[in-house]
Amino acid sequence: MSGGHSTYSPKTGIGRWFDARMPLPRLVHDSFISYPVPRNLNYAYTFGGILAIMLVAQIVTGIVLAMHYAAATDLAFNSVEKIMRDVNSGWLLRYMHANGASMFFVAVYIHIFRGLYYGSYKAPRELLWILGVIIYLLMMATAFMGYVLPWGQMSFWGATVITGFFTAIPLVGDWIQQLLLGGFAVDNPTLNRFFSLHYLLPFMIAGVVVLHVWALHVVGQTNPTGIEVKSKTDTVAFTPYATVKDALGMVVFLAVFAYFIFYLPNYMGHPDNYIMADPLKTPAHIVPEWYFLPFYAILRAITFNIGPIDSKLGGVLAMFGAIAVLFFVPWLDTSKVRSAVYRPWYKLFFWLFALNAIFLGWLGSRPAEGSYVIMAQIGTLYYFGFFLVIMPLLGLIETPRRLPNSITEAVLEKGKGGSAQLAGAHASPETQG
Ligand code: HEM
Repeated sequence: MSGGHSTYSPKTGIGRWFDARMPLPRLVHDSFISYPVPRNLNYAYTFGGILAIMLVAQIVTGIVLAMHYAAATDLAFNSVEKIMRDVNSGWLLRYMHANGASMFFVAVYIHIFRGLYYGSYKAPRELLWILGVIIYLLMMATAFMGYVLPWGQMSFWGATVITGFFTAIPLVGDWIQQLLLGGFAVDNPTLNRFFSLHYLLPFMIAGVVVLHVWALHVVGQTNPTGIEVKSKTDTVAFTPYATVKDALGMVVFLAVFAYFIFYLPNYMGHPDNYIMADPLKTPAHIVPEWYFLPFYAILRAITFNIGPIDSKLGGVLAMFGAIAVLFFVPWLDTSKVRSAVYRPWYKLFFWLFALNAIFLGWLGSRPAEGSYVIMAQIGTLYYFGFFLVIMPLLGLIETPRRLPNSITEAVLEKGKGGSAQLAGAHASPETQG
């Protein structure tokens, strides 16, 4: 996984024997010990590592939960209660897994927004970004199916609403819905296939993460300046520098995670999910988990027909489009300068985008009526406007700030207290690497 040539030299006979047959220690050494990383990485860059440990935590707690869980509609709800009350530390496992899902999304959103801020998706990192979007899609599918497993009211009705979206697709919609459900309504076959897929998908995520990190190690990390590494002085060894920084980021993140587990274990859940699923009683408001809320707001913002596309299909297309547009970001952003640090206008529109995403999330939790719908329509317009209009146009008209000549220069200037006084530096494709 290393970009440069290997510096590993085994010291013992066993080490040399192993190295000649399967150079796994060499791979680990070159990828996580001697691997050069930019010397100016900040804490926003620790979230990839945090995501990796969250994925492991979800898989480990999930496997143990599955030992006690029963995937049948008449048993599922009670099997979860049994885990909470009778299984040794079962409550801890379950709270870790349920809150872990939320924290995983907190981390992935910070990771994605970091990428959007520092232009991490730009050439040559397009594939790295696309692999990330695939991971994100797999995460959403996994979380959605996991939420159905406790067989509470929100599990049942959430699954009914979401699988219902597919019927909006012309010709094949009903067929897709029946394939997902294993019948005509959410029932035992649905629960069974969701359990099976919920167990499978995290391992697929792990596989794509390996490709993600592989792609990362071919092109190398970006850094807050957006300037590529040019000389040895621009980098430090992964261990101890990045290892220690990542470890601190992880400890702080895990402390917040622990606070939720021990003090607010149900804060991110919905009380209705402590009521067993009842196909004859529809809850007053069906709301998805918080991490889906912005997309839910976009779905419900389309209340009008667009030509031959009716509002239902329009909503579904807008919702899937909101995720699909992420795949094209590397080509939608036309700026020659990578990092928002040197792009004053992009920085402004980026922060507006972040606020808009939170605003859409809040609207997703409100009933789809009156002024909420109009606000969601404005939010949706800005969401797509940011990617489809602002990103392409801004790159052509914005005048970026002066760029330093190198990472080292940026670091040393910062140390001296100067920032804009970097002599002879201009924003040009060459200075971007
Ligand atoms: C399970 C989920 C994920 C894991 C374990 C993961 C892991 C990592 C790791 C370890 C890094 C290097 C450290 C860092 O820069 O933070 C990284 C970088 C990166 N990730 Fe992810 N990632 C995940 C999801 C995503 C998603 C959803 C996206 C985008 C949609 C994404 C896009 C990127 C990009 C563009 C970089 C390069 C950053 C740069 O060098 O500027 N990742 N990822």
